[in-house]
Amino acid sequence: MKFFIDTANIAEIREAASLGIIDGCTTNPTLLSREKGSYKDVLKEICAIIPGPVSAEVVSMDAEGMVREGKDLCKVADNIIIKVPCIREGVKALSMFKKEGIQTNATLCFSSMQGLLVAKAGATYVSPFVGRVDDVGNPGMDLIRELVQIYNNYSFGTQVIVASIRHPQHVYESALIGADVATIPFKVLEQLIKHPLTDSGVKSFLADWEKVTKK
Ligand code: E4P
Repeated sequence: MKFFIDTANIAEIREAASLGIIDGCTTNPTLLSREKGSYKDVLKEICAIIPGPVSAEVVSMDAEGMVREGKDLCKVADNIIIKVPCIREGVKALSMFKKEGIQTNATLCFSSMQGLLVAKAGATYVSPFVGRVDDVGNPGMDLIRELVQIYNNYSFGTQVIVASIRHPQHVYESALIGADVATIPFKVLEQLIKHPLTDSGVKSFLADWEKVTKK
């Protein structure tokens, strides 16, 4: 299972990368809007820290514009992946990117049928937004289960990135289902390692070790 870090914050990306378990990074316009400096400079810095795929999203609403924008974003670094929304023009753009050999991430995926279409269009990754599905009262993880099954049924090469992760349970279920990637916000990454029994265990071992060294 691959772990991507879901942020555009350089300090968080550096800290996450130092763990040695981060395979890529996902950004979106909202995440980039929170950071200082030009978005291209921020992306360039992220690409230098993370050697794996770094998703950058297009904002054009027509396929030609998406492709133009995507090609421009590709100039930022070799590891940029173009994020394209799961809309009709997005499907066209995904097919066009596929023909050009440009890697893509079909984002804002909320149904398994959207996922089927973007896989047929040749998306490298698909990003189903589990947290946002949960927010409207439906089980977000069901979407992951369905996509993994559909892609397996037909041996699609598109990789499922579990996105819009809100808590460790989303990562836990993604791993059990066999999703290819979880893109994890920094806060959730911290929650994944933290356990009160580990903390109290470390505390008591250190206290006991002090007695040993004082003997
Ligand atoms: C990642 O690719 C998505 O853009 C991100 O996970 C969305 O998360 P949110 O629903 O918390 O905004």
